[in-house]
Amino acid sequence: MKRIGMLTSGGDCQALNATMRGVAKGLENLFGEVEIYGFLDGYKGLIYGNYKKMKPMDFTGILSKGGTILGTSRMPFKMMEQPTDDGVEKIPAMIKNYKKLDLDCLVVLGGNGSQKTANLLSEKGLNVIGLPKTIDNDLWGTDVTFGFHSAVDVATQCIDCIYTTAESHSRVFVIEIMGHKVGWITLYAGIAGGADVILLPEVPYDIKKVYKAIDKRTKQGKRFTIICVAEGAISKEVAKLPKKERKEVIAKSKYPSVAYEIAAKITEKYSSDVRVAVPGHTQRGGSPDAYDRFISSRFGACAAELIKAEDFGKLVVMRNGEVTAIPLSESAGKLKYVEVDDQAIKEAKTLGICFGD
Ligand code: F6P
Repeated sequence: MKRIGMLTSGGDCQALNATMRGVAKGLENLFGEVEIYGFLDGYKGLIYGNYKKMKPMDFTGILSKGGTILGTSRMPFKMMEQPTDDGVEKIPAMIKNYKKLDLDCLVVLGGNGSQKTANLLSEKGLNVIGLPKTIDNDLWGTDVTFGFHSAVDVATQCIDCIYTTAESHSRVFVIEIMGHKVGWITLYAGIAGGADVILLPEVPYDIKKVYKAIDKRTKQGKRFTIICVAEGAISKEVAKLPKKERKEVIAKSKYPSVAYEIAAKITEKYSSDVRVAVPGHTQRGGSPDAYDRFISSRFGACAAELIKAEDFGKLVVMRNGEVTAIPLSESAGKLKYVEVDDQAIKEAKTLGICFGD
């Protein structure tokens, strides 16, 4: 009988359970019987040998359930070569536990860092299959990750709610959307929510351009402005700094986050009533939307097919609407950024949306 290990790693998202269900159902149908071992709290579970033997019932009724039934944790790739606080060598411990359970494959649901570790384990000789998770949609090699669309929905709903109150009170609102390194959620939700200004980490902004956008709206008789800013958006001045200095400047900022900094600048310039809204982790919470359930189920089925074919060392991806797989090594260590000349940015600019550039 096949023995499969499974874990969810890194920040959670809405369709982790839906994806695990897809894998489990696929395996059950392809193999008849299969033993699934769920490692608890991400790679931690594999390191310490904390797992539970899953029953088919564990995967029933979880298609629409957010979070992860296995728990998750962050364990940065760069820390993998360092022992745990209690002195356990992480990689050897993971290999040992994999072998102890006599696993045929380890399925890793994770984003960029987690898939880098998955690739490392694959290089060390374990049979590994990766599944592309993250609300940020920044995993290189796939057009879309599961969790992204649900997060865009939550962020868009937040903009919708802010929109009405901003209009009533004639206010400028700065809404901060998740994404430290990439701005996919901000770009999609900003357009979907009708934002007037969208600021992304990939497109450093000039605050004067933001003022110009506000002025334009005021001249048009519009009484409010919605600014969507990604967590990692930076000004042109900061972008020019060498990486180390840039990090220091950001760390030393007197504002809790970029949205507050931008709001303070606008308040100072216009002596007006600017407000900040930060949906934060709500963007990772709640049920997966229909699209995420659809792709997660397909991703899960593909993972099961790969296991059946003993085609390991692969990351399941979506390419041009087709679910397929690429070598883990091809994606490892690369991020999928929003290109400055992305078609959606061009179209948004045609609509009059300001990107601060
Ligand atoms: O999972 C990715 C992400 O949601 C980022 O967009 C966000 O900046 C970060 O996680 C928040 O992480 P944490 O849950 O550790 O606060």
